[in-house]
Amino acid sequence: MAKSQIKNYQDLKKLSWDEFHNTPMINKLKHFEKDGHLFDCLFSQQFTPKIIDTLFNTADKIRKIAKNKEGLDWLQTLLSHKRAMLYFVQPSTRTFVSFQSACHILGMKVSEIRSTSTSSELKGESAEDTIRTFSSYADMIIMRHFEEGMAEKAAWMLNKTKRPISVVNGGSGKDQHPTQALLDLYTLFLSFSKTGGIQNKTIVMAGDLRRGRTVRSLTYLLKHYKGIRLIYVSPEYLGIGDDIKSFLKKHKMPYEETANLTKSLRLADAVYMTRIQDEYDINNESKEIDYSKFHLTKEHLKIMKKSAIIMHPLPRRQEIETAVDDDPRAMYWRQERNGMWIRTALIAYLFGSDKVILDA
Ligand code: NCD
Repeated sequence: MAKSQIKNYQDLKKLSWDEFHNTPMINKLKHFEKDGHLFDCLFSQQFTPKIIDTLFNTADKIRKIAKNKEGLDWLQTLLSHKRAMLYFVQPSTRTFVSFQSACHILGMKVSEIRSTSTSSELKGESAEDTIRTFSSYADMIIMRHFEEGMAEKAAWMLNKTKRPISVVNGGSGKDQHPTQALLDLYTLFLSFSKTGGIQNKTIVMAGDLRRGRTVRSLTYLLKHYKGIRLIYVSPEYLGIGDDIKSFLKKHKMPYEETANLTKSLRLADAVYMTRIQDEYDINNESKEIDYSKFHLTKEHLKIMKKSAIIMHPLPRRQEIETAVDDDPRAMYWRQERNGMWIRTALIAYLFGSDKVILDA
């Protein structure tokens, strides 16, 4: 079917996976909604300013309610009738534990598979059949997969069955990590709440921008804020992808590319450091790159603005010297905890429990 023939949501259901996957984002988003509400969470482009606002308010409220036993006990009643499957077949610490904790906060029961070597995939079952199996037992799949597009494929496939359940993308190959982008944005929102908000800020993103999914997903979200200036700092080979540059141009978002970290740090209101993603190397190419120029050290703190914040999705290697951790501008540990709150808000939202939280 030619793309021009795709008129509505119904037509999308008739496409093969490859045809669907190659459909422009704007046309496929409806496939992952139900009654005008997000059903699957797969890409950052799904988050409208209205949804972001709801999620931030819900997360703020959950944080307050969770401060005492009475509040925590109440939160645990909200989704005590729901079960989640955590299917994480790519390494994860924070995303896995924060999602698991988010489920626990809302009283959900969780099951987990953390490697294809312990699932029937080792017996030759396809990822698709494995995922369809989860829908027999769970009400939501939260998944991390090494293959780009696998979360989208899972949701696309399940939405055509008689038992569709929500799919949440906890990282899909080099492509996207939308809930990391949400927690990053929430951290920027909280950090700049007394200094005019996220708009008009200079945000420096440094490191492996070519293969880092967090930078890609965060860039999509920053579209919603006026006057943002983006500076992408990386070795030439690890520069930000052409698809992201087209997105920036299309939305008239000013950006620069440079290899000079020191110069960029002077301008930063926020600096977002990332590690080299060498697990995606094809031929050990990371070994050829001098990544030390993209390490933030204690010396750099002297040239940074007093009001700036330092972020990292973690895990880190040497991109941020541990001596930086004591500086009040270091935000990455708080950023990590914000992840639990915003993921709790997201799960509540997907099950329609955000209203009762906001009204509490
Ligand atoms: C990131 C990821 O998995 O993309 N980690 C995370 O989820 N906090 C970043 C990384 O692994 O470098």
